[in-house]
Amino acid sequence: MCGIIGYIGNKPAMPILIESLKKLEYRGYDSAGITVADDSELQTYKTAGRISNLESVLPEAITGTIGIGHTRWATHGVPSTDNSHPHLSGDVAVVHNGIIENYLQLREQLEADGYKFLSDTDTETIAHLLHSNLYGGVDGNEKTTDLLSALRRTIQQLEGSYAVATVCGSEPDVMVAVRKDSPLVVGLGDGEFYASSDVTAFLNHTKDVVFIDDMELVRITPQRIDYFNMDGNPIKKDITTIEWDIESAEKAGYEHFMLKEIHEQATSIQDTFSGKIFEFGGAVELKELNLTREDIRNIHRLEIVACGTSWNAGLLGKYLFERLAGIHTDVSTSSEFRYGDPVMKNDVLTIAITQSGETADTLAAIRSSKSYGCNSIAITNVVGSTITRETNNVIYTRSGPEIGVAATKTFTAQLIILYLLALHFGRANGHIRADNAKDLLVALKRIPGQIQKILNHQEHIRECAIQFAQSHDYFFIGRHLNYPIALESALKLKEISYIHAEGYAAGELKHGPLALIDVNTPVVAIATKGNTYDKILSNIKEVKARDAMVIAVADEDDTEIEKYVDIVLRVPPTHELLSPILSAVALQLLAYYTALERGCSIDKPRNLAKSVTVE
Ligand code: F6R
Repeated sequence: MCGIIGYIGNKPAMPILIESLKKLEYRGYDSAGITVADDSELQTYKTAGRISNLESVLPEAITGTIGIGHTRWATHGVPSTDNSHPHLSGDVAVVHNGIIENYLQLREQLEADGYKFLSDTDTETIAHLLHSNLYGGVDGNEKTTDLLSALRRTIQQLEGSYAVATVCGSEPDVMVAVRKDSPLVVGLGDGEFYASSDVTAFLNHTKDVVFIDDMELVRITPQRIDYFNMDGNPIKKDITTIEWDIESAEKAGYEHFMLKEIHEQATSIQDTFSGKIFEFGGAVELKELNLTREDIRNIHRLEIVACGTSWNAGLLGKYLFERLAGIHTDVSTSSEFRYGDPVMKNDVLTIAITQSGETADTLAAIRSSKSYGCNSIAITNVVGSTITRETNNVIYTRSGPEIGVAATKTFTAQLIILYLLALHFGRANGHIRADNAKDLLVALKRIPGQIQKILNHQEHIRECAIQFAQSHDYFFIGRHLNYPIALESALKLKEISYIHAEGYAAGELKHGPLALIDVNTPVVAIATKGNTYDKILSNIKEVKARDAMVIAVADEDDTEIEKYVDIVLRVPPTHELLSPILSAVALQLLAYYTALERGCSIDKPRNLAKSVTVE
């Protein structure tokens, strides 16, 4: 998984490419490189490590106004200068995000044709193949076709996923790009164009964008831009105006994107539900759904597919759909679902939850569900992302860009959409009465203010994080609705602080993991008021009896809990069904401050990337 950028216009390309790559670093950051075309001469600089490493090897200025750049997250070959993109073949330069599955076979054939490989990557095959299609072979000097046609021919030989941007010395004022199963978006500026994996790369230059679909090519010169299908025929594309501004993609004074994004939840959640809630009638309006009341009544089962944090949101969704809409719900990790033998009929509605909209396993799962004739809904944050083209219905979480690798505001927004969807279904099929729906919606509208209250009193959470920051293991326990939050909070802590953490359904502790509990194992118990409150108190007593230090997340007005635990993290009381949102925010802060105390790379944790576009 990587980020690509291409620039073509009237300004020096190098500083623009570097600026864009910094915005794309969340997609991969183990190596980076650029190629700038200066007339027919291509100048390439690349290096392992972060963009700052690349900057240190760049000359003061390069005059070319056309170029491509790349920031990498290694899949084939270790992070190194040779494996960094752009990859070159003669005067052809290529950047690529995705995976070429038949690269070994292509490599053998290209080596037999005399091409020399300098890297271990799959991408280098694209460069040589493109060169071969453009010049007729390794020794060809004269073009046999143009760059666009050569790229079109090249991708017919590729299997896998790709967003590719390319420039070549023999067409120095042209850039060509193409996509299949990896994101590609074009920015239309004033006398200049951009092509990238993500709009954030060029948002401070233009907000007018065109999302490129699978198997579409784009040919750009400083004067014009043209779109083509795989047959080489011109096609028309719609321009979308992005509403995010670049400030919302930057840190706004916070030390880390993650902290900024945790704070944004007080407002981003409001954006998520705005225009959808009519609390006095107990109604939820989801205009984006193409489902009639009849369709909803005919849903026999829901199948949720998702990965990681989005899967944790889906697990909470199961409880909500079953409680509020009486619809049996299964939740599968996409990577398991895609290779399983699910029993699916066309009365199953599949819900794919993916903040990025690009997670390869979730895309594969939704395609598999489609093959059974199932209707589908995507819940995603990224407008125009691939999942939105793979499902019959799309609900956007409207959280704005999330740059921190650890999902925070997109998680709580996914939860909000799941509450709304469950209520919508429950009202449509008559499972929930209007007055009960109304109570929940009134409480939901108060959640942003209650999040703000948690944020205003975060000092206590920070102190708690510091106290246990050197622990080797952590347990998070919860029951029923709080179980998915225990899982999510453990995931959050481990991914950014590198402390081993386990999330457990509290009733399961006695079936094995209790053996691990001792004085050095902090246990976080999510103990907000609800119908399992007494049960979690019993579980707290179980771990206290093994000398564990217990941190409880509990309601502000709970005076009972402090008798049994060492530390209480308070959250405002709310409707029982909604308390998981508030607990999640408090525990995001616990994870953040723990990682901060340990000096970890919070926004870019080791081995992880924001958008997992490979299997
Ligand atoms: C953890 C995290 C990941 C993602 C997972 C799925 O903080 O962000 O676990 O949730 O990679 O990503 P999406 O939601 O983009 O499909």
